[in-house]
Amino acid sequence: MSELLKITGLRVSAEDKEILHGVDLTINEGETHVIMGPNGAGKSTLGAAIMGSPEYAITGGSIVFDDNDITEETPDKRAKHGIFLSFQNPIEIPGITLSSFLRSAYEQITGERIKLFEFKKKLGAAMDILQLDKSYADRELNVGFSGGEKKKAEILQLLVLRPKLAILDETDSGLDVDAVKTVSAGIKAYKEQTGGSLLIITHNTKILEALIVDKTHIIADGKLAAEGGAELIDEVAEHGFENYTG
Ligand SMILES: Nc1ncnc2c1ncn2[C@@H]1O[C@H](COP(=O)(O)OP(=O)(O)OP(=O)(O)O)[C@@H](O)[C@H]1O
Ligand SMILES: [Mg+2]
Repeated sequence: MSELLKITGLRVSAEDKEILHGVDLTINEGETHVIMGPNGAGKSTLGAAIMGSPEYAITGGSIVFDDNDITEETPDKRAKHGIFLSFQNPIEIPGITLSSFLRSAYEQITGERIKLFEFKKKLGAAMDILQLDKSYADRELNVGFSGGEKKKAEILQLLVLRPKLAILDETDSGLDVDAVKTVSAGIKAYKEQTGGSLLIITHNTKILEALIVDKTHIIADGKLAAEGGAELIDEVAEHGFENYTG
């Protein structure tokens, strides 16, 4: 199986404070990886650094994606390579509808124009999977969306943009039991439709039940503290993080 993402010795700082102290992570094409770890361990920082968020400085190591060294690349270039990050707290964009935002993101990432009619068809099919009412397409992106609706809008992006790697940062937090199932079905549909890879950052194992997890990584104090298969998820659910230090 070929390597999609290879992170080596990654050091990341924000405001002159080092948060990640040398992290290694490899994800092959089509694999599903889970990242767990205590609050403040550096999980979101890792996701943001892979996406190239300007908030974080990469001070050491490298990120190679699909045979491109992207360590120094801007987020829009990384998106074009096929990396997608869903945010722990999705942002609101007044004045732009969900539908027009997604259509322009689609055109930017693929470099292709898509007819409105054709786009609406794609969007409609994805909205059905997520049980999102079609009226949301014409609402301003995330403005006045409930927490759960924002999370569904993130998964909607995933289904429409079809990235090679989807990083989901606590896509399940604040979802009711039914919404967890719907979002989980959306993630599964992404996987089945595209064969893409997933990096799921979560505290909640419910979202993982419908998925086959290939590898679990535990991050503590900005370092990898343990790695294993899906069994590590149950181990954490039972014993917490007390056995892991960075
Ligand atoms: N932009 C920033 N400026 C300063 N400090 C930051 C910044 N981003 C993160 N940090 C700090 O880095 C540490 C790791 O934060 P991060 O958000 O990556 O944790 P996390 O593992 O995602 O935690 P949680 O489970 O609570 O989401 C925290 O101590 C946080 O305060
Ligand atoms: Mg976080």
